[in-house]
Amino acid sequence: QPVVFSAAQPSGGGLTIGNYLGALRHWAKLQKDYDCIFCIADLHAITKHQEPAELRKATLDTLAIYLASGITPRKSTIFLQSQVPEHAQLAWVLNNYAYVGELNRMTQFKEKSLNHGETITAGLFEYPVLMAADILLYQANKVPVGLDQKQHLELCRDIAKRFNLAYDTDLFQIPEPLVPAGTEGSRVMSLLNATKKMSKSDPNPNNAIFLLDDPAVAAKKIKGAVTDSDNPPVVRFDVVKKPGISNLIQIVAGITDSTISEVEEMTKGFNYGRFKSQAAEDVLYWLQNFQEDYRRYRENITYLQEILQEGREFAHKKAQKTLYQVFEKVGFITTH
Ligand code: TYM
Repeated sequence: QPVVFSAAQPSGGGLTIGNYLGALRHWAKLQKDYDCIFCIADLHAITKHQEPAELRKATLDTLAIYLASGITPRKSTIFLQSQVPEHAQLAWVLNNYAYVGELNRMTQFKEKSLNHGETITAGLFEYPVLMAADILLYQANKVPVGLDQKQHLELCRDIAKRFNLAYDTDLFQIPEPLVPAGTEGSRVMSLLNATKKMSKSDPNPNNAIFLLDDPAVAAKKIKGAVTDSDNPPVVRFDVVKKPGISNLIQIVAGITDSTISEVEEMTKGFNYGRFKSQAAEDVLYWLQNFQEDYRRYRENITYLQEILQEGREFAHKKAQKTLYQVFEKVGFITTH
């Protein structure tokens, strides 16, 4: 069976509904047809300073969020990036096949390093190389991500091809990005500025619905979301003319498992105020259910540890195999 690999960072204020709609929800569905490996990218998380106790907590929170999203250890491997040393090892090798020029062009790096001048860390710069290592270690065929990660995947493909070419080999499988259609959550926008991505590291928490938000607070955020000043103010999906409303329609469609046109149909004749009240109610109800599952998993620490232990062993075995092949190609003396 083809292999799917993906990951999310356990950082900031925790995962958002954007992570769920753009990634986790789709990962859960892929389990049926693929060998899935889902990683919690704690090595990536420290490219921004994390309080140690908070990082540990956020890591377990993220695991329980994966489970509540329908990702199951019966079908998928779930593991922590920092527990499989091959990620950092392969990243070092790949560093020598990534160009400073192309890393400089990564939009996420450009955005995150804005106004940091001398204090931009090498880790933040290297981030996409580590991400390439994550994917290539498992010979992944497909990588389901939101639109914001697509550029990093293209870089991963370039690095893999460059390595293969340099050693005249087809060692690395060239992975393909799997980005959901525009209407299926590939880019959930900020609630207060529909031209900006909803992000877990946004300094204003009212921009994002966090999966662990108090559902009543989340409902308030939806009611306070910026809508559009176009006329007539009808509820219709139109990202260009009605980015605010379209974002909310996309969110409602995702959590109620409906299509965009079904949501439009159900809210026919609603003005923006009424639509937002309805959307707030949908989000409240959905979050309550989601968090019920979440808490059940989160409280069972023994179970969480078992999953991570099993995941670590499985991932390590696969990763070791690829790294060994890479070391052989590169010319390191391997004892095996
Ligand atoms: P991260 O943690 O920022 O996000 C996890 C996933 O959620 C998607 N996403 C969104 N989708 C739609 N709308 C949004 N507003 C939104 N915000 C985030 C992201 O596209 C991503 O799919 N570098 C990665 C983690 C990573 C990774 C990997 C991913 C590490 N190694 C290997 C794939 C393969 C990241 O920071 O994602």
